[in-house]
Amino acid sequence: MPFLKIKKKTMTKIDLKDPKLLCKKAYINGAWQNSHSGDSFEILNPATGEVIIKVARCGQAETTEAIAAAQTAFETWQHVGAKERSALLMKWHDHIIDNIDDLALILTTEMGKPLSESRGEIAYGANYVKWFAEEAKRVYGDTIPSPSQDKRVVVIKQPIGVVACITPWNFPNAMLARKIAPALAAGNTVVCKPANETPLSALALGELAIRAGIPKGVINILCGITAEIGAEITSNPIVRKLSFTGSTQVGKKLTADCSATMKRTSMELGGNAPYIVFDDADIEEAVTGVMACKFRNAGQTCVCANRIFVQSGIYDAFMERFETATKGLKMGDGREDGVTIGPLVNARAARDVRAIIADAVDKGATVRSQDSSHDDTESNFVTPTILSDVTKEMRVFTDEIFGPVAPVFKFDTEDEVIKLANDTPFGLAAYFYSRDVGRIWRVGEKLEYGMVGINTGAISNEMAPFGGVKESGQGREGSKYGLDDYLEIKSLTFGGVDK
Ligand code: SIN
Repeated sequence: MPFLKIKKKTMTKIDLKDPKLLCKKAYINGAWQNSHSGDSFEILNPATGEVIIKVARCGQAETTEAIAAAQTAFETWQHVGAKERSALLMKWHDHIIDNIDDLALILTTEMGKPLSESRGEIAYGANYVKWFAEEAKRVYGDTIPSPSQDKRVVVIKQPIGVVACITPWNFPNAMLARKIAPALAAGNTVVCKPANETPLSALALGELAIRAGIPKGVINILCGITAEIGAEITSNPIVRKLSFTGSTQVGKKLTADCSATMKRTSMELGGNAPYIVFDDADIEEAVTGVMACKFRNAGQTCVCANRIFVQSGIYDAFMERFETATKGLKMGDGREDGVTIGPLVNARAARDVRAIIADAVDKGATVRSQDSSHDDTESNFVTPTILSDVTKEMRVFTDEIFGPVAPVFKFDTEDEVIKLANDTPFGLAAYFYSRDVGRIWRVGEKLEYGMVGINTGAISNEMAPFGGVKESGQGREGSKYGLDDYLEIKSLTFGGVDK
C-alpha cells in the first residue's frame, strides 16, 4: 500500500485531455490575472506530498477589484432575461459534463478522493447547475389581498446584488457549483474564494464559464491570503450576501463580521450526525448505508455518520458485518484503480484524526477494525477504524471527526437513543434504520436535524433542501427552496386604483 512519505518539491504531473483546464491565475473581471505582488503558493497532492502547481496568492487589493467587477457586471446581469440566464447556465452545465474526466482528475489530484468519487462529485455539482438553470425561469411573485378598496399589493422577487461564496476543500467542485448556480440564476453576480488547499477545481469551473459565454465580471474567483480576502468580503458594503460552507467556528466569526454591514448570510456548517440502527432494521441495508455514509470522502463530509448507535438486539450481528465490510476497503492514491478510500487532505487533518482515536483509546475504547501495519504518521493516510466501548465523554461523541473513524455505541431503548442523538449543538444530518412505520414517524419528527435519512445513508441531491439547524447553520441549498436564499422580497403597493 502506498503510504507515501512527503515528497515536497517533486512535481505531480496531471495528464489532462485539455491542459488549459489547469489554471493558476485568479479569474477577475473576465481575465486571468497574477496577484499584484506576483506571489504564488504551492498546491500539493495529498497522496504524495508532491507539488501540482503554484497558484496566484491574492489578498485584499485583488478582492476589492473582484467585488467592484462583480458590482459593474450586476448592473447588466440582473436585467438579462431569465430565459437567457437559464440558457447560459445550461451551457456551463454541458461544458462541465463534457470535461468530467479532466475535472475529476484535477479534483482527485488536489484533494485525494478516489477518481470514482470525484466523477460522482462533478456530476453532483453539475446537477445543481442544471437544476438552477431550470429554476431561473420560475422566480414567481405573489398578489396579496388588498387592505382597502383603493389599493392593490403585489410581491416581486429581485436579486440581492454581489454575493460572496466561500467554499471548503472537501467538495471543491460541488460546493461552489451549488452556490454559483442559484446566485446567477437569480440575477446576482459572485466573488468566490475557494479553499487554498483545492483551488484548481474552482478555477477550472471559471475556465468553463468563459467557454459557456457567461459575461465578464459575473463570476470572479480568487484565493491566497485567507484573512485578507475574508476581511474584505465581510466588511465591503458592496457585498450584500455571503454564502459559506465550512466549520461552525469560522461560520460564527464570518456571521459576526457580516453584521456590521447587515449582509444576508447562508451558513452550511459542521455536523455530528447520529446513525441509528434499530433492532427491526434490515441489517444488510444498514451496513451498506453506513459504509457509504461513513467512509465517503474518507469521512471528510459534514453529513458523514459521526456517531453510530446500534440497538442491543442486533449489535453483534451488525458489528460482525460492519467489520468485514470495512476490511474490504482499499486505501491508496485516489488515481489508482480499485482504490476506495484516499488520504486525508493534509498532515494536520491526519494528525487531528489520529488524536481523536488516541483520546478514545486512552478513555477505554476498543479498536475493532484497523490494520495498524498501514499506519505511517508521516503520511496523510489514516486507516479506516471502528471503535467500540465508546462513551459520551470521548471526543468521538462531541467532535466532528472528519476522518474514517466509526465509533459504535450500544443502546437499549428508543427514548434513550433520541436523547443521545440530540445531545449536541449540531443539527445538520441524521440517519436511522427501522421498518416500523410508527417508529419512523416518531423518530423522524423528534430528531433535531435539518436532514434525516430513513433507511438510507445517501441524502444529498439537487432536488432536496440541504442545510442544518442549531449550530449547523442557516439557509438551504438546492431544491425549490434554494433560490430564495439568493432573492430579496419586495412589495409594490398600488394606491388610487378605484379612481
Ligand atoms: C459537505 O460535506 O459540506 C457537503 C456534503 C454533501 O453535499 O453531501
